[in-house]
Amino acid sequence: YIIGIDLGTSSLKGILLDKAGAILTTKQAEYELITPQAGYSEQDPTVWTQALSQVIQQIILEVPAASRSTVGISFSGQMHSLVLLDQEGLPLRNAILWNDVRTSDQCRRIMATAGEKVLSITKNRALEGFTLPKILWVKEHEPVIWQKTAHFLLPKDYAGFYLTGNQQMDYSDAAGTLLLDVDNRVWSAELAAQFDLPLRVFPKLVDSSEGIGLIKPELAKQLGFTSDVMVYAGGADNACAALGAGITTDGMALASIGTSGVFLSYEGAGHADYGGELHYFNHAAKEAYYSMGVTLSAGYSLNWLKDTFAEDQTYDELLHNLGDTPIGAGGLLFSPYIMGERTPYADSQIRGSFIGLDARHTRDHLTRSVIEGITFSLKESQRLMVEHGKKDIQTIISVGGGAKNKHWLQLQADVFNTPVTTLTSEQGPALGAAMIAAVGAGWYQSMAECSKDLVHYGHSYTPIPKNVTEYQRLYEIYQQVYSATKNICH
Ligand code: XUL
Repeated sequence: YIIGIDLGTSSLKGILLDKAGAILTTKQAEYELITPQAGYSEQDPTVWTQALSQVIQQIILEVPAASRSTVGISFSGQMHSLVLLDQEGLPLRNAILWNDVRTSDQCRRIMATAGEKVLSITKNRALEGFTLPKILWVKEHEPVIWQKTAHFLLPKDYAGFYLTGNQQMDYSDAAGTLLLDVDNRVWSAELAAQFDLPLRVFPKLVDSSEGIGLIKPELAKQLGFTSDVMVYAGGADNACAALGAGITTDGMALASIGTSGVFLSYEGAGHADYGGELHYFNHAAKEAYYSMGVTLSAGYSLNWLKDTFAEDQTYDELLHNLGDTPIGAGGLLFSPYIMGERTPYADSQIRGSFIGLDARHTRDHLTRSVIEGITFSLKESQRLMVEHGKKDIQTIISVGGGAKNKHWLQLQADVFNTPVTTLTSEQGPALGAAMIAAVGAGWYQSMAECSKDLVHYGHSYTPIPKNVTEYQRLYEIYQQVYSATKNICH
């Protein structure tokens, strides 16, 4: 067996995979966010390792054979979140999470003093969520903690360290720190010097599928294992979500609609440059990359609509008339910037809008326009990829909320003007984590081979030409909304 762990922001999920590719059980343990002030978001790293132990024990309880037949375990982890360890490997403070936005000042200064350098080395621009601004914040506000810092890690690396006693970070997660030379896959000594960070605090870099050590014997016994279990480094959650959806070859992209939305595309050749307009990170598949844009309020916009106008209904009821409501929602246009927007604007101040409200509009029109607005926002990321020369997106895999309704799936195919395919079962990043361990353990030679076996596709939706033309017209209007409404919010 293989265990794949997804160390998320609100919970830790584990799946048990057998050699035939079946998922035998799924277990989950939830935890809370700590928000000492508005804009702050933290977690105690030991909460993750408690959840990890609990989930492993529950998996073994349900499938007792897992105790002696598990050969490997690996991780998908929430990205960017900063864990600081002292010389003994103990956390010096709560982890500062990716969704913590206290670092606006640090981001401004990073871009003002070294913007060009950061962009050309890391391929990304400084955003509040990324790790470097968090490190600079600690240096400035908690100098005593910084002085005691022996190493920094990301969440899934802390979990790997807990299991094995070894500290390292894989390239896909290191790319999200804003300190990795992304093309050359080394820590950037130039950026370390620029921001006065001693090289000794940087963890060793490894491939996602590299074995980092066996679970410590005492701990393995406590968890219920009766044989050796190898731990593989693991990857960033977006990279693992991509693996779990089979985004392992050129031409494949992912449209994921959770609370936030992600449009992500495989980049086999490397050396792409999006000038910081999209994220560009190392993949968890060896030597590959992916580009990615984020819609901050995707599912969250629909959630807001439901809570505000249809609290007592289910999502299915809310979307019941989606297919009968005309394209363009009877002249109503929604921009989903209700908590700011990341791609393409990186603007935390902008807010959303309904434009074109008519006295004859019903809740069905509002619903349709919200769905269209969310999809237009994801199309912005696809557009940026194409504008920077990416011409080969042939299939988009849809996961999350957007994949639960056949009308929304057709709408995605029409808006993206690309075939959209579903998965028969969505395991998310935990499957990517299991795939990393399966490749590490030698079950497969490559991620592409592994995904052929483990990722199963459902129905495909083909763009309908007349819809494509209609959405293109609406999308061009949508694109004008940001600049036309910016001054309301700034
Ligand atoms: C990616 C990002 C989030 C986190 C969630 O840049 O900030 O998607 O990865 O864990």
